[in-house]
Amino acid sequence: MMHNITLIYGDGIGKEVIASVKKIIDYSGADINWDIVEAGYSAQERYGTPLPDHVTDSIKKNRIALKGPVTTPIGKGFRSVNVALRKQLNLFANVRPIKSYDGVDSIHKNVDFVIVRENTEDLYSGVEHMVGEDAAESIKIITRKASERICRFAFELARKENRKKVTLVHKANIMKLSDGLFLNSGIKCSKEYEDIQFEEVIVDAMSMKLVQSPQDYSVIVAPNLYGDILSDLSAGLIGGLGLAPGANIGENIAVFEPVHGSAPDIAGKNIANPTSAILSGIMLLKYIGEVNRAETIEKALKEIFKDRAKCTEDLGGSLGTREFTQEIINQMKG
Ligand code: NAI
Ligand code: MG
Repeated sequence: MMHNITLIYGDGIGKEVIASVKKIIDYSGADINWDIVEAGYSAQERYGTPLPDHVTDSIKKNRIALKGPVTTPIGKGFRSVNVALRKQLNLFANVRPIKSYDGVDSIHKNVDFVIVRENTEDLYSGVEHMVGEDAAESIKIITRKASERICRFAFELARKENRKKVTLVHKANIMKLSDGLFLNSGIKCSKEYEDIQFEEVIVDAMSMKLVQSPQDYSVIVAPNLYGDILSDLSAGLIGGLGLAPGANIGENIAVFEPVHGSAPDIAGKNIANPTSAILSGIMLLKYIGEVNRAETIEKALKEIFKDRAKCTEDLGGSLGTREFTQEIINQMKG
């Protein structure tokens, strides 16, 4: 079956890592018609906006996108493409699989869990104001609708991936109303999924437990802020951001992207590690039902990781982005 997928290279190393994953997916034989559009800094220069309407229209039409990181200049007048996409497409779930691979230097082995982060509210709603000159208030917004939606999403993901436990993270002992609502939404959902174990852990304790025994977790669901922080902490457990893929998912719509940024310091030098992008591509293939092809790529990647010489510099190897990509393709040839 042919799939139409929107492809956004993005800025900086986005061009290199997305070229890598596109080459690998094309080699896998998946029947994909890439609808290539431009967003970010390059779009700003060409169209006068970092997120032209035809880009969002393409994603709305195709329902699936693979996206590279985009540079967000600090300062006024340049909206964040990622925030705009999330809002316009209502991508309410941020999904970050955290998996360790043999051969990769990491603090922990045998880690395999997924963080499901609520992507639309909490302290990220942007409702802030000054109170006089010497105080500021940020409003934490938690709604029943968004909380139940994200908890249900986490349980559905657990079922689909045959995962046995959902851990909800909160601080309801202090924020009794907002986090209390989030927690109660999780408890309510858990009753509909009796085949899946449910537990709740307070976020500070969770931070310690994740560092000590990440193997205890399978699916973690959290409000926006805790999810943001725990996602990066978790990437650190398995070898860093260069190895963590991600997806932003809404109702029948999904945007897959590596979690790192455009890395201007190494852009254009053929040294970026495309693994995070490739793993995002693997998530995409699984999402569209191309599970066998996804597994073939993942298997090749696992083999490469066992031989450090075949890795990129950040993993202790000496290969460039393109050479590493070619190694994976050679490995897929079997
Ligand atoms: P960054 O992730 O681009 O870079 C942080 C450090 O990690 C740099 O030293 C970089 O060289 C290294 N690094 C990142 N990805 C790598 C890879 N695949 N292989 C090897 N090394 C890698 O974060 P930074 O510097 O804070 O942000 C740069 C730009 O990217 C900013 O404009 C930021 O707004 C944007 N950004 C965009 C994101 C997105 O579009 N999803 C996410 C994060 C940042
Ligand atoms: Mg973050």
